[in-house]
Amino acid sequence: MPIQNNDSEVILTHPKNSQSSVTILKYGATVYSWKINGVEQLWLSTAAKLDGSKPVRGGIPLVFPVFGKNETDPLLSKLPQHGLARNSTWEFLGQVKEDPPTIQFGLNKEIANPELTKLWPQDFQLVLTVELGVDFLKTSIEVDNTSNSEELKFNWLFHTYLRIEDIEDTMVSNLAGMNFYDQLIKESMVDKHPVVTFHQETDVIYKNVNADRVIQVVNRGKPIHTLKRENLPDAVVWNPWVKKSEGMGDFEPKSGYKNMVCVEPGHVHDFVVLAPGKKWNASQLLYKDALNYQAI
Ligand code: BG6
Repeated sequence: MPIQNNDSEVILTHPKNSQSSVTILKYGATVYSWKINGVEQLWLSTAAKLDGSKPVRGGIPLVFPVFGKNETDPLLSKLPQHGLARNSTWEFLGQVKEDPPTIQFGLNKEIANPELTKLWPQDFQLVLTVELGVDFLKTSIEVDNTSNSEELKFNWLFHTYLRIEDIEDTMVSNLAGMNFYDQLIKESMVDKHPVVTFHQETDVIYKNVNADRVIQVVNRGKPIHTLKRENLPDAVVWNPWVKKSEGMGDFEPKSGYKNMVCVEPGHVHDFVVLAPGKKWNASQLLYKDALNYQAI
């Protein structure tokens, strides 16, 4: 089996190409490395904590049950920014498919971080499925409301840090014409620009982006990451730029903002409300594709 499983992480290597692999830290079930043919696709801070002392700065942290810091919900407002999934140790459930190799991780109230389930005592079960192609990575989530009496109200988001060469040569395409909420100036607008470009701190939530809109990260005209979403209508685009990076102790090197852009598919503009006993599924697929500029 192309799986190495130790106390803290699981490394899955593709049986047809030993240079394609994915490494998942059990803390947060955080994918913190994904290589295609030996080339790293994700950004990871050199100061990221991989010892379970705080969420990983880089890779694909998982955001559940709340995106950002909620101020109003009686239960969710008690949780720290981005919830409890990224601060809990998940259980490795093993391999579920040979080709493409696919593994799963699980989290529920019983094994999640007790400091946080004390604040948010909801019943839930999460299963993360990680599927490694020779040249793609698919992460899928199933949220199960295991309560037989209470609704489960939550956000979900894959907080994907994509590795890029230079943020000033990078654009994110196929979000033109979409409504977005700018978290820095706290205003909603329609994006009239043909592509997203970066010249300063950027922290925006694109809302209700159709699933057939394939988001691409393009470097000097060349598409370097393509992202397909299932059941994840929103997409956060984030780059901390100079000042915000300086303020984050685990963000290193400080010039690292040049080599990353977060494109984060999620359901965050509003909450998913799941009836007792019901399940909800969503996924992100990262792959390589030709430039595909979609008209509005
Ligand atoms: C993004 C948010 O998803 O995550 C930003 O839109 C936030 O507002 C960023 O700063 C990083 O969050 P954290 O909690 O990992 O520092």
